[in-house]
Amino acid sequence: MERAVTVISGSTFVCSVLLFQLIISRVAANSEGDALNALKTSLEDPKHILQSWDATLVNPCTWFHVTCNSENSVTRVDLGNAFLSGQLVSQLGQLPNLQYLQLYGNNISGEIPVELGDLTNLVSLDLYSNKLVGTIPPTLARLSKLRFLELSNNNLTGDIPVNGSFSQFTPISFQNNHFNIITVSPPPPIVPTPPAPSAGNIATATIAGGVAAGAALLFAAGAALLFAAPAISPAYRRRIKPRDHFFDVPG
Ligand SMILES: *[C@@H]1O[C@H](CO)[C@@H](O)[C@H](O)[C@H]1NC(C)=O
Ligand SMILES: *[C@@H]1O[C@H](CO)[C@@H](O)[C@H](O)[C@H]1NC(C)=O
Ligand SMILES: *[C@@H]1O[C@H](CO)[C@@H](O)[C@H](O)[C@H]1NC(C)=O
Repeated sequence: MERAVTVISGSTFVCSVLLFQLIISRVAANSEGDALNALKTSLEDPKHILQSWDATLVNPCTWFHVTCNSENSVTRVDLGNAFLSGQLVSQLGQLPNLQYLQLYGNNISGEIPVELGDLTNLVSLDLYSNKLVGTIPPTLARLSKLRFLELSNNNLTGDIPVNGSFSQFTPISFQNNHFNIITVSPPPPIVPTPPAPSAGNIATATIAGGVAAGAALLFAAGAALLFAAPAISPAYRRRIKPRDHFFDVPG
């Protein structure tokens, strides 16, 4: 009897250890799912676009609007025009293989998390047409793979970074916000306009040009006549003789 109890408690202990290890490994493996679940929790989703985002699954790779690579690591989050409101979360920075973060055309408010600067593989960040406020985190300038940045139609303020990845973006990426006006400093000095060519020069140039053009036209006409000559009657050739003579005068 005593022996039986020992065996049972022993196996219970082993089972507990195994279960504990299973939970630990699952949590560790699903850190990306946890990060995306934090986003889901922070957003209001009246159309149930995020219904398939089940945090108890082993990874987020079967969730709608989420794409993973062959190692089950998230590469894309596609939630444009998804009627979402609420705020972004710092945990988005914990998706090390994320390349595309598409959240345009929603009603997302609050600030752009500085942690997005940790997304070293990010290629495209589309946050246009939301209600984002605050400044652009300077950390985004260090995203060397970032090629597409769309922040237009928000309520962002402050300075637009100019260094790092921002050197390649045009004002279209930032329009319809409340950014500081970029002033060129120091202001360009007022340079006096160079003297315009005199009226005489213009007249001479115009006449010279006109003469050249006229000569070219006459030459072309003469050449055409010469080619046509064999076909033209001798009488007609005699009549145009003075004009041929005109062309012999050196110009
Ligand atoms: C944003 O919210 C406003 C008012 O709450 C609503 O009228 C509008 O349709 C929403 N836009 C989107 C894209 O969800
Ligand atoms: C961009 O400039 C800011 C401020 O001058 C600096 O802190 C940051 O390290 C720079 N980033 C890059 C990628 O050069
Ligand atoms: C944008 O921000 C300004 C102040 O910075 C505020 O007055 C305005 O209501 C905001 N607009 C929206 C749509 O949030």
